[in-house]
Amino acid sequence: MDPKVLARYNSVEGADSYRAEYETKLHRKLSHKLERKLFQKLFARTKKIGSLVDIPCGRGRLREIFLENAERVVEGDWSFHMLEGNRRDYGGDGRTPYFRASALHLPLADRSFDCVASIRLNHHIDDVEEREQHVRELLRVADRYVIFTFFSFHSLKNLWRRARRPFNGKRPKRTLSLRRVRELGEENGFRLLMAPTLSKLGSGHRFALLERVENS
Ligand SMILES: C[S@@+](CC[C@H](N)C(=O)[O-])C[C@H]1O[C@@H](n2cnc3c(N)ncnc32)[C@H](O)[C@@H]1O
Repeated sequence: MDPKVLARYNSVEGADSYRAEYETKLHRKLSHKLERKLFQKLFARTKKIGSLVDIPCGRGRLREIFLENAERVVEGDWSFHMLEGNRRDYGGDGRTPYFRASALHLPLADRSFDCVASIRLNHHIDDVEEREQHVRELLRVADRYVIFTFFSFHSLKNLWRRARRPFNGKRPKRTLSLRRVRELGEENGFRLLMAPTLSKLGSGHRFALLERVENS
């Protein structure tokens, strides 16, 4: 991840402003609403989950959605300050334990959670090898389902960015292709069930749902 972005997430102000953005900025509120709908679609497919680990949990934006759809939820993040803020705001109800870890090297046993969720991290990871390592790590820990987001190589947003790049010199988006996500799943005993987009034109984010193939 860009060290500046990571440092911001790992600061008191960065952690608090991430939470505040989703409460005050219109485009963030809209995207949260779209995400809520999208999760309904994904969880309609999985039905109620036993145990779910959410990493990165950020400032707990998706906590309620996960608690509605899983019996037990554990939340993790790399940022101390995200975790600290969550403990302060939600710790009292004791419904979600917190742990600090990198989602690229989870201190969790193989197949130790029914579902592993990793939302809005992959597109921050600079190196394509590490983006793929992130996906493999989620698949290793999941006994049944993985839900994760990635920025789609073939999205209009990315194609537009690539077309303009020779003129504005902006850095390329950190993408994965849908085909590669499917392959990574298959290489690790999963099949891709669906990967809806947050919005066809306005967003390049896709929400992939993978399921472990029986006997794999
Ligand atoms: C864009 S936020 C997403 C948070 C949450 N999933 C959401 O959608 O609101 C990215 C989060 O990734 C965390 N992060 C960055 N690198 C990480 C890593 N290697 N492992 C786990 N968390 C990481 C940051 O601290 C931040 O909380």
